[in-house]
Amino acid sequence: MANHPQGTQRAVKWYPPAYDIRVETIPIPEIIEPDDALVKIKLAGLCGSDLHIYRGHEDVDAELICGHELVGEIVALGSSFYPGATGRPELYSTLQIGDKVVSPFTVSCGECHFCRVGFTCRCIHSALLGTPLLPGGQAQYARIPKAGGTLFSLTALARSNARVLDIADSSLLLLADILPTGVFVALQALQHPKLSPMLTGSAYPSSSFVPCDGLVLSGTGVMKPLETADRTLTIAIVGLGPVGVCAAVSLLHMMENIRTTKGLDCRIVAIDPNEARRKKMEAVYAKINSHDKQSCAFVVAAIDEAQDLAKLWTGGAGCNAVLEVVGNNSALDLAYSLVRPFGIISSVGVHQEPPIPFTGRDVYNKNVSLDFGRCPVRAMFPLALEILVKRQDVFGGIGDDASLIENTVSFDQAAQSYELFDKGKCGKILFDPWM
Ligand SMILES: NC(=O)c1ccc[n+]([C@@H]2O[C@H](COP(=O)([O-])OP(=O)(O)OC[C@H]3O[C@@H](n4cnc5c(N)ncnc54)[C@H](O)[C@@H]3O)[C@@H](O)[C@H]2O)c1
Ligand SMILES: [Zn+2]
Ligand SMILES: [Zn+2]
Repeated sequence: MANHPQGTQRAVKWYPPAYDIRVETIPIPEIIEPDDALVKIKLAGLCGSDLHIYRGHEDVDAELICGHELVGEIVALGSSFYPGATGRPELYSTLQIGDKVVSPFTVSCGECHFCRVGFTCRCIHSALLGTPLLPGGQAQYARIPKAGGTLFSLTALARSNARVLDIADSSLLLLADILPTGVFVALQALQHPKLSPMLTGSAYPSSSFVPCDGLVLSGTGVMKPLETADRTLTIAIVGLGPVGVCAAVSLLHMMENIRTTKGLDCRIVAIDPNEARRKKMEAVYAKINSHDKQSCAFVVAAIDEAQDLAKLWTGGAGCNAVLEVVGNNSALDLAYSLVRPFGIISSVGVHQEPPIPFTGRDVYNKNVSLDFGRCPVRAMFPLALEILVKRQDVFGGIGDDASLIENTVSFDQAAQSYELFDKGKCGKILFDPWM
């Protein structure tokens, strides 16, 4: 089935040690393995994760093709793809040349233990796009390994869910990374056992899924249902770059459902030292709030203001959960100072500075849970798609006050875009490789 284009393409490359972005003409990648697909890229994203490499913080000493967020069209498939391919992920039998796809930022086979249980970012075949090992998506073409497990086919999805056809490519691109990551950081907090007393209304440990109504506890009166005040959730979001905004929108969506089904209140403080980032968050929230009656108090704040507010809201106890969406030690410090005893820090920031800025004693002294790591994008896809469809007022447009995406530019503006994004002087930028 390999029928792929020959010749050269344009791509954005990064050179070590840091801050060196060049646009070059290089060979179009080829199908190498039977499970590969070749994608002609329509749009590619510039992400906060690209900045870690850009700044030279990732210990990478070889040049690379940048980017890990892409939406495009299948132009060639390896020999594993044929009608009737059985015992493998469905796309091996259904994916066709011309189908529109989004690629998550890491490869996942869909077949190993980690993929089967939903921890797709730790697939045994995992590979990250935009590294020396796997050329990235800020190019005209990209080779996607294990494509039958990795890719989302929007063409297949449109057959069962026609609404997908109405969504712009720029919006679909957000499914490659940042919206699933926003969903993940919120879900990881809300699903954490530390929050289950508030969510179930039962005191610990009977809030657990492990049966705990033993002889000792029955009849003591200790286990009466929790009061409303004890169930109110206070959550901080640290960092309001594009991923932080996705986290806020996802959290608001989830809290709306939780409030309806579980009847509890929530207060959210969304924090960033950068005023432009706070303004974007405020505009996004104003847009959401004008359409839906939201379930939560929601305040956008600078760091000092947020610390005061969290104390005021909680009588000094601190936040039940802190979503860390930055990726540096100052943000982790802030997260630790904001979280209450028996709280959770849910972190998706890609941390570079060893070691993390709190000690075993600090963690002990607050009984704090730390959940770190990469988003399993493939597993987050259904929930992220639901939010993408619902929140087209935020994720649909480009360049409006409340749009998450600020602009689409050509590769000629790649170096300048990296520079502006690095300094927090622009929001989410997409590249059109054919512009
Ligand atoms: N875990 C994953 O799978 C995953 C996926 C995507 C992105 N990420 C990571 O998420 C992070 C955010 O990505 P982004 O694209 O939004 O990046 P970004 O750089 O645009 O945003 C980071 C924001 O954090 C703010 N900030 C800096 N220090 C702060 C502090 N001490 N307190 C509060 N805010 C602070 C900055 O002003 C900026 O607005 C990055 O580390 C990125 O690598 C992780
Ligand atoms: Zn990304
Ligand atoms: Zn796998």
